[in-house]
Amino acid sequence: MDYRELGRTGVKVSRLCLGTMTFGEQNSEGEGHAQMDYAFDRGINIFDAAEIYPIPPKPETQGRTETIIGSWLAARKARDRVMIATKVAGRGKMTWVRKSETPTRQSPAQIMEAVESSLKRLKTDYIDLYQLHWPDRPMRIFEGLDYLHLDGDSHPIHDILGALGTLVADGKVRFVGLSNETPWGVMSFLKAAEQHGLPRPVSVQNAYNLVNRSFEMGLSEVTYREQVSLLAYSPLGQGYLSGKYEAGALPPGSRKALFARLGRYENGNGPKTISTYIALARRHGLDPAQMAIAFAVSRPFVTSTIIGATTMDQLRTDIAAAELKLSDAVLADIEQVHLDYPNPCP
Ligand SMILES: NC(=O)c1ccc[n+]([C@@H]2O[C@H](COP(=O)([O-])OP(=O)(O)OC[C@H]3O[C@@H](n4cnc5c(N)ncnc54)[C@H](OP(=O)(O)O)[C@@H]3O)[C@@H](O)[C@H]2O)c1
Repeated sequence: MDYRELGRTGVKVSRLCLGTMTFGEQNSEGEGHAQMDYAFDRGINIFDAAEIYPIPPKPETQGRTETIIGSWLAARKARDRVMIATKVAGRGKMTWVRKSETPTRQSPAQIMEAVESSLKRLKTDYIDLYQLHWPDRPMRIFEGLDYLHLDGDSHPIHDILGALGTLVADGKVRFVGLSNETPWGVMSFLKAAEQHGLPRPVSVQNAYNLVNRSFEMGLSEVTYREQVSLLAYSPLGQGYLSGKYEAGALPPGSRKALFARLGRYENGNGPKTISTYIALARRHGLDPAQMAIAFAVSRPFVTSTIIGATTMDQLRTDIAAAELKLSDAVLADIEQVHLDYPNPCP
């Protein structure tokens, strides 16, 4: 396993990060622990969670993922050997996350409440990377490429950073990160951090995969030049790029069979493009899932690629992809498909 510096922190994280959003829904506590053991033994030193996990978010399961990570940390006495990343929810409709049953926002008071709950579930007194799960301002996220302006209020960025700064000063958070952000958002946080002497975000966690390279339109330059690490999530397009759903297949227990929330991979040029990448991998004798993960890992602006798995076989395949170096011929073929069908699944 190789490692890269997280932002400008001097701390090195593994090129793969283990995502945990299946723990507590598709995966039991025992399965989650087995995944963490296996990943840790192969050199993965960063685990990604969120207060709202597992996915899909539901009142009756919320927090289970962090609880499972917490019991692993306690059982393995591994706290100082791993980085724990988690997230505070942004503006949304979920009313079950806060004690006051108000919808989630990133007000300083909600951030303080959220971090205390996460610390308790994680059985730790500090979080290595505390991320804003999605922005507090009204905007279109998890869908669409084009800018759609939505009116509405937003907590000022320096207030949000101020709350995070208090958490850093109190030793409850080591580093601060963003997620599902835009170039404007990242630059605004960097500017506010500099102007007010507040924590500088070290990372941005956005979707990045063969069928959604929208990060490259602006954010890759911002983050590369500013040394803000991209933690790239959904490298397999939630499983689609493994080929598991080809020709109408619907494997029992898969995310698509269980939850009807993957429409972004089935619209427009999505299915055609996904099939083209899968055929491309097979033509070159590659496992499609490994090619997709190796592609994300190979990008110079990606610090760590966040994988996710529901079985140990998937996890073994996915972690092994970190060692796969794609040939120039494969990369050239990928570029051609990208030119023909750019970003069909943003
Ligand atoms: N910041 C955010 O808003 C955000 C959003 C999404 C994810 N994330 C983070 O990123 C992590 C990974 O995201 P993701 O789960 O969407 O990643 P992904 O790699 O695109 O999809 C992972 C899913 O694909 C299937 N899979 C994995 N390996 C496979 C293989 N070799 N063959 C066939 N199927 C395979 C599994 O689902 P099935 O077995 O169910 O098919 C697995 O759960 C999450 O756990 C979370 O930490 C963050």
